[in-house]
Amino acid sequence: MGFDVMEWIHLGIRWIHIITGIAWIGASFYFIWLDMNLTPPEKDGRKDKDGVGGELWAIHGGGFYEVQKYRLAPPTLPAHLHWFKYEAYFTWISGFALLCVLYYFGAEIYLIDKSVADISTDAAILIGLGSLVGGWVIYDFLCKTPLIQHQGVFGLVLFILLTAAAWGLSLVFSGRGAYIHVGAIIGTIMAANVLMIIMPGQRALVAAAEKGEVPDPEPGLKAKQRSLHNNYFTLPVLFIMISNHYPGTFGHEYSWLVLAGLALVGILVRHFFNMKNQGKAKQGFFLLPLSFLLFFLVAYFAAPKAIDLSEGPVVPFATVHAIIEERCVSCHAQKPSNTDFEVAPKAVKLETVDQIKREINRIRQQVVESDAMPLGNVTEMTPEERLLLGRWIAQGGKTE
Ligand code: HEC
Repeated sequence: MGFDVMEWIHLGIRWIHIITGIAWIGASFYFIWLDMNLTPPEKDGRKDKDGVGGELWAIHGGGFYEVQKYRLAPPTLPAHLHWFKYEAYFTWISGFALLCVLYYFGAEIYLIDKSVADISTDAAILIGLGSLVGGWVIYDFLCKTPLIQHQGVFGLVLFILLTAAAWGLSLVFSGRGAYIHVGAIIGTIMAANVLMIIMPGQRALVAAAEKGEVPDPEPGLKAKQRSLHNNYFTLPVLFIMISNHYPGTFGHEYSWLVLAGLALVGILVRHFFNMKNQGKAKQGFFLLPLSFLLFFLVAYFAAPKAIDLSEGPVVPFATVHAIIEERCVSCHAQKPSNTDFEVAPKAVKLETVDQIKREINRIRQQVVESDAMPLGNVTEMTPEERLLLGRWIAQGGKTE
């Protein structure tokens, strides 16, 4: 059996990405929760006079915690101040590494789909990198316009712009390539928020406190805005990161619309929890059934069109076998002839009758109900062949 070095490199980077991502998102959830649950200390009490704006008690892991947030800065800075930034940086770095290893080094199979757009590898990578930079520039510009004063409108404009990006990318990239770039655009915005806005804001706060000056509240408020944006980005990004297991999403004809719908589900759920954190669970409760409803609406919309595949002449197995031989086996074999693969991807081999029979369900999902396979349609499978495979499966997938 061949040893696939790249596979282990993927695994290593992906593992790091998940570990750091969990740490980052966990911190985001925790601090937004914390901030929204703070209660003002007793008026004119000691804490209030010391500049404490909110406090909170919690119990966890067998002990009591008392947290207090200062309106600006404490009278004296502590010797040890914990910062939260490396989880963000390493999530971005490992994510970007994965993007390069998988989608840029493997652009011809993962990023480009010639039936979508026949572009060169260089062009595809440039568009990809450009989308990351462009995404941040546009978002950051928007944050500096008066629009930022109107949270709801700002969110709506951002949502529309990102959906437009998803649509635009779906015109040049494979379904997965487009999805992962929307995820990377959002991830880049999130990490850049930490690097360019949140951290400098905090440094200014600390510097002023060290000099004994009253800090300017502006950078702190901006940092808080950006970290709230990051909080709303988390669930859509998480969906994108798992989406490549679901060819019915990125492989859909209107993949960008499916993405917009599911992203909205994530945003509604996040909004419910943020309302709950502010003690408005009752007012926000409708968001939960609404998000469920939207989820099922998207599922209904994304469901493959009900064409009756069992109609029409019987498709003999020999026909099916020949199609798979021609369109799939170059990758899905014990020893793939496609030089990009040392071993059969996902251990799916389609050389023998038994192997094909075993994979009937997944073949239906990947080839008939979506265009997820052949990857990037590199083997140029035709719609007629997909229909033949679909009919054969609907007729019971007989191999005699
Ligand atoms: C260019 C190489 C290539 C070709 C050609 C190809 N595949 Fe794949 N296939 C892959 C790769 C790579 C993966 C793993 C994708 C991933 O990482 O999610 C895969 C995954 C799969 C899976 C498993 C999906 C899952 O995640 O459960 C199935 C089933 C599959 N392919 C079927 C097919 C069929 C059927 C054909 C022919 C119509 C085909 N493939 C053609 C490269 C290819």
